[in-house]
Amino acid sequence: MSGTNRRWLLAARPQGMIKDSDFRLEETPVPEPGPGEFLVRQTHLSFDPTQRGWIAFDTYLPAVKIGEVMRAGGVGQVIKSNHPAFKPGQMVQGGFGWQDYMVTAGQTEFMPVQPLFPGVTPEQALGVFGVTGLTAWFGLTDIGKPVAGDTVVVSGAAGATGSVVVQIAKALGCKVIGIAGGADKCKWVTDVAGADACIDYKSENVAERIKALAPKGVNVVFENVGGEILEASLMNLALRARVVLCGGISGYNDANPADAKGIRPYMNLTVTRSRMEGFIVLDYAPRYGEGVMALSKLIAEGKLKTADDVQHGFENIPATLRRLFEGKNLGKQLLKIADPPLPVV
Ligand SMILES: NC(=O)c1ccc[n+]([C@@H]2O[C@H](COP(=O)([O-])OP(=O)(O)OC[C@H]3O[C@@H](n4cnc5c(N)ncnc54)[C@H](OP(=O)(O)O)[C@@H]3O)[C@@H](O)[C@H]2O)c1
Repeated sequence: MSGTNRRWLLAARPQGMIKDSDFRLEETPVPEPGPGEFLVRQTHLSFDPTQRGWIAFDTYLPAVKIGEVMRAGGVGQVIKSNHPAFKPGQMVQGGFGWQDYMVTAGQTEFMPVQPLFPGVTPEQALGVFGVTGLTAWFGLTDIGKPVAGDTVVVSGAAGATGSVVVQIAKALGCKVIGIAGGADKCKWVTDVAGADACIDYKSENVAERIKALAPKGVNVVFENVGGEILEASLMNLALRARVVLCGGISGYNDANPADAKGIRPYMNLTVTRSRMEGFIVLDYAPRYGEGVMALSKLIAEGKLKTADDVQHGFENIPATLRRLFEGKNLGKQLLKIADPPLPVV
């Protein structure tokens, strides 16, 4: 196929906050699908805090190598196909990376290519029915195990994952305290997502506010941020609390994991007989269908609203990843590079 494929390659391991110069833009010819392969033109890219780890060191996936296309999930359209199961015009999702086009036989680097469910938008496929929504569902229900009447604290509460956690916990009959950066985000967390309260960690003492809002202690902590925000929750645990270690974005720009600050009040886990457990959503892949059904039901019942932050422009891809660490996004961070439906071959 004629045309140009734009690709952002990893140019350097970032030091601190990601810079545009950590990546290099390159143009190559659009690849041709061989026997059993198909060509996808990507339309929407997903941005996830874990990408900061992928370019720094080996995590649950090997680090992206210098000179490789940056790893990322996305949605696209099949343009040309020699594969019996994928037809030109079909919308699909997979790990297509920071590039316009990708040839695949159906397996991308870290996930199989999947057709979008009928009626599901690209934003929903990458957000509420994608990694962040499923992380919220399985992390909260399988590890946090909240029951009606529990008090649940959610950090990163205006983000893609946290905002869904807030609403699932509310639907399960819990009292929900969100934590987010700034008055506008906190207003969204209470007024739209429906949390009972939201603590603005930029202007309030988080530990004192949790204590005032949950004098009998917190039963479930859904932790997206780590550091001092996690410590504030650990100071306020109820007996037999469950602390879900989903993420720790406040430390992702540290040079290596050993630089992360320790968790000072960890003995409160002992005193309150509590449990703190991490998880990686990819381990739930065999149960994704179950999560999608549960989240669809909440949407249909009007109990789950989503927010998407859709940026534009291929040249803005590195800056869009940075938005997550600058707290600029509300809800799921995406970037649109093409508008489906696209012409097919
Ligand atoms: N375990 C898993 O399988 C899994 C899967 C997906 C995501 N995660 C984790 O879930 C968390 C949320 O991910 P997401 O994709 O939903 O991102 P997100 O919450 O939509 O976006 C990141 C948010 O983090 C907050 N933030 C950034 N730097 C911060 C800092 N230094 N201190 C406090 N808050 C900061 C910002 O919100 P404010 O403006 O409120 O500060 C920002 O909007 C991340 O930790 C991610 O790694 C884990």
